[in-house]
Parts: sequence; structure tokens; C-alpha cells
Amino acid sequence: MKESVVHLQGNTSDLIIQTHPVVEILYWGDKISGVEATAIQAVKRAVPNGRLDVDTPVTISPEHGRGVFSSPGMEGNRQGLDWSPVFEFQAIQQDGNHLLITTEDQIAGLKMVCELKLDSQTDVLQVRNTLTNLKSATYQVDRLAVTLPLPERADELMAFHGRWVREFQPHRLKVKHGGYQQENRRGRTSHEYFPGFMQGTTSFSEQQGEVWGFHLAWSGNHRLRSDVKTDGRRFVQAEALYFSGEITLSEGESISTPWVYAAYSAQGLNGMSHAFHQFVRKQIIQFPDHKPRPVHLNTWEGIYFDHDPEYIMQMASRAAELGVERFIIDDGWFKSRNNDLAALGDWYLDTNKYPNGLEPVVAHVRNLGMEFGIWFEPEMINPDSDLFRAHPDWLLALDGYQQPTGRYQYVLDLQKPQVFDYLLERLDTMLGRYDIAYVKWDMNREVVQPGHDGYAALDGQTKALYDLFDELRQRHPKVEFESCASGGGRIDYEILKRTHRFWTSDNNDALERQQIQRGMSYFFPPEVMGSHIGGRHCHCTRRTHSIGFRGLTALFGHMGVELDPVKESAEERAGFTHYIALHKQLRPLLHSGKVVRIDHHDPALQINGVIAQDQSSAVFLFSQLAMPTYTLSGNARLAGLDPTKHYRLTVLDQPASMRTGGVMKKLPLWLDEEMTLSGAWLAKAGIALPVLDPESALLIKLDAM
Ligand code: GLA
Repeated sequence: MKESVVHLQGNTSDLIIQTHPVVEILYWGDKISGVEATAIQAVKRAVPNGRLDVDTPVTISPEHGRGVFSSPGMEGNRQGLDWSPVFEFQAIQQDGNHLLITTEDQIAGLKMVCELKLDSQTDVLQVRNTLTNLKSATYQVDRLAVTLPLPERADELMAFHGRWVREFQPHRLKVKHGGYQQENRRGRTSHEYFPGFMQGTTSFSEQQGEVWGFHLAWSGNHRLRSDVKTDGRRFVQAEALYFSGEITLSEGESISTPWVYAAYSAQGLNGMSHAFHQFVRKQIIQFPDHKPRPVHLNTWEGIYFDHDPEYIMQMASRAAELGVERFIIDDGWFKSRNNDLAALGDWYLDTNKYPNGLEPVVAHVRNLGMEFGIWFEPEMINPDSDLFRAHPDWLLALDGYQQPTGRYQYVLDLQKPQVFDYLLERLDTMLGRYDIAYVKWDMNREVVQPGHDGYAALDGQTKALYDLFDELRQRHPKVEFESCASGGGRIDYEILKRTHRFWTSDNNDALERQQIQRGMSYFFPPEVMGSHIGGRHCHCTRRTHSIGFRGLTALFGHMGVELDPVKESAEERAGFTHYIALHKQLRPLLHSGKVVRIDHHDPALQINGVIAQDQSSAVFLFSQLAMPTYTLSGNARLAGLDPTKHYRLTVLDQPASMRTGGVMKKLPLWLDEEMTLSGAWLAKAGIALPVLDPESALLIKLDAM
């Protein structure tokens, strides 16, 4: 069969796929103008001595049977047979930049369909593979991955590690030989292994270098790997991770990988984030209304389980005075929930705590002009609950084993219709009965031995969770949901299709948040990042931070406060009011603009900004995370503005300590004098930085003249 290629064209990137004689991505990178049909002849590989006698293509699902010795694109068997399929091209369907490529192995009785879409506006590439069993005997699927090739020069990798109260910590490694692999078996997206990473040219940075970014949109178990073949070629694989025997296909049945979202950038990590953010805004978030995201007050760190409706109403009154727009009662409102030992599953109002019902609280909040929100943890059950006493068999577990509890709770088996129906009824009834605008949907434990009818069932559990969300969303399309899992344990694009924001971390320490939020910002735009001002003394770390540092750290995300405003001092309350007002003033820009993280020589200072899409204005935050390395902090070179325009610089917020004479005898002039600078000057020469105390921050605005 004749060679043939398909060329998908993005705005700034191109993808070229060969379909005959084998299906292989030949090029994915910077846009090339005027590609000639014959050009692919120029990249035909040599066949070296000492290896197989033919070229061994890394196809869209690499095959051992073609002589590829690396990780294949799928693994499985039919009672030991049909274990090494080789997929031959069958058909291609193209609709603009949307491709469906069908391949088949008639001996093994398997069909593989690869679906690719290159979004021509944002340049985000979307890929998934679907495997179908064509024979009558059952096929067991052990692995099914999306495989994307990378050029040899992509020899550095940046991934994330983390834990509870410390999500999205980046680390880097050289990928010269061997590779990188992360496996998540925790039953949720996890704090430990965010399902995404970036790979790029040597020393790629926020602003420099070529970068390819990948995210597996999946809230269950996963495996990601980046391989260097011994011939130097590289590829990335992303897949849902299956337990043994978890996936079996009867004749005609199929399984698809989760979607993999990928982006190429010739302008460092910022270019990649820009692509992902715009894509998320246009195609992932499915809530129709584009109303400003209301400022929250969440009661958790203010009162924990101590719910007294009279007091909660006082909190709401104080919250409204601060400028809060949505008031959320967290854990502790339902029957016998006095601590974290009991009651999960019993989703009925605790009438001992709320003798007059929830209505007076909701009405009070609504009368103050705020929306009302409430906390649930639907997937969970405490052994000490009425639900467990009535239905001990509703657990996601294996009979005969005693699995460990996590936060004193077990997981419900959502694939049992009775469980699904019970949760749907409870949530549906609550959302129908009260004027609830928002649900904080929590998930506070890792999943051990997820068994359904004896079989491994995490894949099914994850899909059932999506179904539950989808059904509720259909019944209550205006209710917004937050994805929380002990903070940031379930942050991914697939859950974001059903939710509206994330609880980024249980850690409200501003210093820790600076790192966590920067990590999250690579794949997620600011408006989905829940960021709250916590108390002066952080509950997680016992550190103390000024209201300035806390306020500015929470400012860029979906802002809120997480404390008891009744107990706060007048001075602190004035601070909350100030930062909430500042946030509202900047919110249209912050929640629609282009995020930039500035390369700076001193890691003790973190600079990030948001630039309006039309480059008419921008804000930049200078956050001093630790003692400056040098006596001066150098210039901040603020890239991303229109080089031909002039901008007026305004200082919006500065640490009081800066002017008390401790660290500087003389301040940079722009702190006190009006200054107008061109976008070109700001990017290339920049502005001299003041010397800041550790754990303080300064905010500036630039407006085009
Ligand atoms: C988790 C969440 C917190 C809070 C508690 C309530 O830890 O991450 O924000 O809602 O549960 O129990």
C-alpha cells in the first residue's frame, strides 16, 4: 500500500501522522509552513547494523511483533493466547483536525481505534485509544496506553510529587537513558502523583525552551512513563492502571483509555500553560454561566464540627460585611457528626444541632445577599453510622478480608445500584429542598482492595463516580461543585468536566501555598484554584503570617476566607475586607488573562503575573519566599506585554515592613514616583527590585496608556 500522511495544523504547532504502511506520528512540534508531500522521505530512518534487519516504528500503539522492545501500547491475552498483536491500518475518518484511525489484528481478533484532535485555537492535542474484542472468547486487558513520541532533544523532565498538605511539588530529572515512571494505586488522582508532566529541551524554563506537556485526565489509578529507547528515540505513555483481571472484554466489548491532553510550546512552560488554560476555559469547564466566581467563606477552620446555627448566622453576618459572596457550611451538619469518627453516610440534617432546620440559616445567608453552599463526602461511610449498621455489605471491598480504615472510614461501592440510588436520592433531595448553590464534594481516604463481586473494580468505581456527578449535574445544572480530596487529592481534567473549582490544599499557610499554587498553575488556570486566606496562625504548620502576605497569596485564585470572622480582630477583619475588595477589582483580569511565571535568577523570589489577553493591562506579584540570596534582588524582567505599547506602573499593595528602614536605606524610584515604561523595556531591562523581608509580597499593576 502507498505511503500516506495526514497533516493536522494548529495555530502554533503541527502534527504529522503517517497512516501507511504503519500508523506513526512523524512530527509533533513547532509549526512548519509549506510542508511538501515528499518531505517525509527526508526523515526516513537508517537501519543500523547489529539490530533487526528492518526499521522498527514506534506506532501509535507500539508493538513487540514489529520488533519494538520497549513498553508496548497494550498488553493482554485470551487465556494466554493473542498476547502479541500487530495492528494493521484499516480506515481513517477525518473531520478537520479530528481523526479516527482504525487498525486491526485479524489473527488476535482485536481492533484498536486511535482518536486524535488538535484544537486549532489553543494547540492542545487530545488523544485516546479504544480496544475492541472481535472474537467470541473473553479477552483480558492488562494495559492500554496512549503513546506519543518525543524528539531526542527532549532530554529533561519535570514531574510532581506531593502529599497531604503539600501538593504539586515539582522535581526535575535528566532523561538520557532508561526513563521515568510513576504509578498511582491510591484510588483517586492523588496528592502524591499528579497525572501529568512536562518534557523539554535541556534546561527548559518558564520562558525558554521547547516543552511538551502531558496530562492524563483520570481520577483513578494511573501509570505514566517516559522512555528513552536504546536508539535514542523517546516516547511518553499514559494510561489508567488496572489491577489483575480488572478489565475483561466479551465479544464486541470495548475499553477506552482516558483522554490524554498534550501541548507543545516553543516558549517554555508559560507557552504550554497558556495553551492548557485556554483549552480548559473553552472545552473542559462545562458550566454554562460565566458569572464572576463568588468569594467564599468556608466554616471548616473557623468552627470545625461545632455547629450552632445562631453562631453560624453571626459568622455569616460578619462574612457579608467583609465582602464575602458565598457562605459554606463544612463538615459537621449531619446526624451525629460531632467528630471524624462517625456518621459519614447518614446524610440527614442533625436536628439536635439544627432544631429549627437548615432553613433559617439558608434564609439568613440569602438575605445577606450571599449564596449558600454545603459540604458532602458521598463516597464514604463510617463503621459507626446508621448506614453501615443497616448495610454492612455496601462497601467497596473484598469479602473475607479486613481492609484498613482511612480517617476511620470505608469507601462505598458505587457500582451497586442500591448504593448509587441511595446517594443520588440523598443529594438530589438536599439540593432540591434547600437553596444550595454550591457543594464541596470531599473524598478523604485512599482506596484499598477495591472489590466489586470479588473482582478488582477501581476503574468501574471511577466511572460510577462520574455517572453520579453527571446525573446530579443534569438534575441541578446550576449547582456548582468543588472537587476536594483532603485538599488536592482529586485534581484532574476529567473531574473538572463535572466540577467548577478545586480545593487546592488543606494547607492555608501562605508560604506553602506559594509553592503549591505555582505547581498547580502549570495545568490549571487561576479561577479553578480554591485559595483561601487562613488564620494568622496556620493550623497546619503553626507558622504566622501577616495579613498582607496571606491576602496577596490568596488573591490570584478563586478566593475565599477560611476562619471564624466573629473571633478575628478588627485589624484582621480590615485586612480581609481590603484583600477581598482588591480581588473583586482585579477578578475579571485574573480569571481570564494569561498566566506568566517569570524566570528570575534568585529562587528566593517568586514572580508571577496575569496579563490581559489583549495586553491592555497586567498584574505582577513579587513574593519573597526566603532570605534574598544577594544583598540586592536585581531587575524583574516582566515579559509578555505589548513591546510597542507604554504602560503606567502602579503599586497596588506593599509590605508595611518595607518602609520601616530595616532592609533598605533607599527604595527603587518606581515605588514612589509615577513611571511609564514600554512593554519592550519591561521585558528586556525590567525594573529594579526592592529588598523584601522573607514571607512578604508586593503587587503592581501595569496599564496601557
Ligand atoms: C477534608 C477537607 C477539609 C474539610 C474536612 C472536613 O480534610 O479537605 O477542607 O472539609 O475534610 O472533614
